[in-house]
Amino acid sequence: MLDNLKANNRAWAKRKIATDAGFFERLVGQQAPEYLWIGCSDSRVPANEIVDLDPGEMFVHRNVANLAPPQDANYLSVLQFAVDVIKVKHVLVVGHYGCGGVAAAVDGTRRGLVDHWLHPIREVQQDHRHELDAIAEPRARLNRLCELNVIRQVRNVASDVFVQDAWARGQELSVHGWVYALTNGLVTDLDVTVSGPQALDD
Ligand code: CO
Repeated sequence: MLDNLKANNRAWAKRKIATDAGFFERLVGQQAPEYLWIGCSDSRVPANEIVDLDPGEMFVHRNVANLAPPQDANYLSVLQFAVDVIKVKHVLVVGHYGCGGVAAAVDGTRRGLVDHWLHPIREVQQDHRHELDAIAEPRARLNRLCELNVIRQVRNVASDVFVQDAWARGQELSVHGWVYALTNGLVTDLDVTVSGPQALDD
């Protein structure tokens, strides 16, 4: 079963060693990435690949619709470990246009548990009702909601106590909001970077 994946894995490991004999041995010693990626589970948005980083270079958390809910123990565990132990310098919240999770949050169809998971997106939609209603084209409206969702999650991360405490003790840490385009493989920086408590207020 899954022989193709096992063969791929062997070929991949072989290629890594061919270009850098000590690659795996070095990584065994420690994990010291500078980045935490919080992105969507969507198979078309593979974290390391998009920014061309090797294993060991990025700590990654992915869930449906790239949420950072302040009650989610999984996300919080990742965030605390990344900030307190690994001491990453950058947290990247990365959404993507055409996100099925964002669409599912607001299309009125009942799907079960995921409707609860996606609830924060409906709150974002409510908060920006007027702006969104003014966008006539449905895909453009959805894509704007994808952006607004990223901006809200950046705020969640930046206002989290782990991040606030890190800033209070003088730790260097920035939280960024990006959106990835499935259509051309490019990320756009939404220019909402927060690098300290003052910036969050702004
Ligand atoms: Co998505």
